Amino acid sequence: MVYRDYVASPGGLSFGFMPTATIDQLSEPARAFVSSGPQRLVIGDERPEAADGRTFETLDPATGEAICEVAQGGGDDAARAVAAARAALDGPLRKVHAAKRSALINALAELIKANGDELAELESLDNGKPLAMARGDIAAAVNHLRYYAGWPTKIEGETIPVSARDVLCYTLREPVGVCAQIVPWNFPLLMAAWKVAPALAAGCATVLKPAEQTPLTAIRLGELALEAGFPPGTLNVLTGDGETGAALVDDPGVQKVAFTGSTVVGREIGEKCGRALKRVTLELGGKSPNIILPDADLDAAVKGSFQGIYFNSGQSCNAGSRLYVHGDHYDDVVGRLAQFAGEAKVGPGLDPDSQFGPVVSEEQFDRVASYIDSGLDEGAEAAAGGAPERNGGGYFIEPTLFTGVTDEMRVAREEIFGPVLVAMPFDDLEEVARRANDTEYGLAAGLWTRDISQAHKLAGMLEAGNVYINTWGGGDPAAPFGGYKASGIGREKGHANLDAYLETKTVWAQL
Ligand code: NAI
Ligand code: MG
Repeated sequence: MVYRDYVASPGGLSFGFMPTATIDQLSEPARAFVSSGPQRLVIGDERPEAADGRTFETLDPATGEAICEVAQGGGDDAARAVAAARAALDGPLRKVHAAKRSALINALAELIKANGDELAELESLDNGKPLAMARGDIAAAVNHLRYYAGWPTKIEGETIPVSARDVLCYTLREPVGVCAQIVPWNFPLLMAAWKVAPALAAGCATVLKPAEQTPLTAIRLGELALEAGFPPGTLNVLTGDGETGAALVDDPGVQKVAFTGSTVVGREIGEKCGRALKRVTLELGGKSPNIILPDADLDAAVKGSFQGIYFNSGQSCNAGSRLYVHGDHYDDVVGRLAQFAGEAKVGPGLDPDSQFGPVVSEEQFDRVASYIDSGLDEGAEAAAGGAPERNGGGYFIEPTLFTGVTDEMRVAREEIFGPVLVAMPFDDLEEVARRANDTEYGLAAGLWTRDISQAHKLAGMLEAGNVYINTWGGGDPAAPFGGYKASGIGREKGHANLDAYLETKTVWAQL
């Protein structure tokens, strides 16, 4: 996911950790929410506990301490949520006409905006990201809903000039049915908005399964959808872990699955949906190459490449994690990046001075730390960072930059999903395009140059669903986003994602 221009520019502050008692820093609505006892499911207009009463703790990544308990949904709860979605779809939701659907989505967007401070605090607390970044996520979620709010009244079929005599042939575009939408923890509310907005615009009912690391804003989203006036059952929220997600995918009442997360789980979901012939879209991992050509504006390239990898502490599916710098500028660029990285301020998300937050969990900390170890073991050198240490219970990792990297090293091939960049030199365009494409992934690629023909030539050569020229990670609700190869199937955003929630019915009438 996406680097946008609200990101603070790099440099300036000194590096340091500042663990603090974060819940005390919350404003009243967010504190009231997390103090209101175990968070329950949202199914229809009810707020049940899990059928078997199980709960789990969601943790503050800045301290490793529990924020609150959350219902751990199981198979019975998945079935109940899917039934509620089906009841909405066959009942009240079917009667909601397109203009009303549009108004409801806009109402939800307005409620998110009105509750934006609380949502941003909850997001920062649960995920660890700096509050300013969380505010950016909430604003982007509002924009996303507003974009899709425009669609319901523009979903049109066609009349087809068939050859048969005296036949009226036309198409209808109908909602695909009950959706299972499983989202990750890196942009919790924004990824939920990416999923639910096109489903709601298409007239579907959905069961949203947030990540176990970051369930809080999804629960609020479910509450706000009811407040906005959607028929109960239109948007259900099933909290829980991977087993909960698997039970939801397996439920025979689900017609369409949308998933964002790891390629491993994406393959499993794709396999299941293939067998059951459920519609499926997958937005998966990446190891995106970012190429600095010899004639690039180096100031812009260094700044953009820095944010392209370290934004959101490297926890973006489209992070620019493999940097290829033309040999003429390699030492210069690496030196500047290492300086920015050394000056970066990593700290709790609720501390206004933090430029980058902790990574989301102990599991993620250990995963990233073990990649850093593997890089050092395989002979790479850390020009910045490189020695993650748990500090004050939080999962802080300083921006790490590897040099002396070869294309075969694990740090150059595998998705790390943390603040770790590998920088490698190259000589010519064909060579760098071949090396950039030598990966199972194909989510994003970037290039920096002042030469317009080189720019478009290389953009055409790169096997990636998103190519950034002299920028990293431009994003808009209207612009399709998704991956080539093992980075996914289908596209998020734009009318491409609306299509993923619609079936086409062709009607033949003999006149
Ligand atoms: P994950 O793919 O296990 O989790 C993502 C979501 O899927 C969560 O809601 C989770 O509960 C759910 N889930 C897990 N197993 C499932 C299953 N078998 N069936 C249905 N739903 C399931 O990712 P995880 O473990 O949080 O992170 C592991 C790695 O995945 C990261 O290190 C990163 O490389 C990648 N990742 C990529 C993301 C992206 O934006 N493309 C987002 C999060 C993780
Ligand atoms: Mg959490």
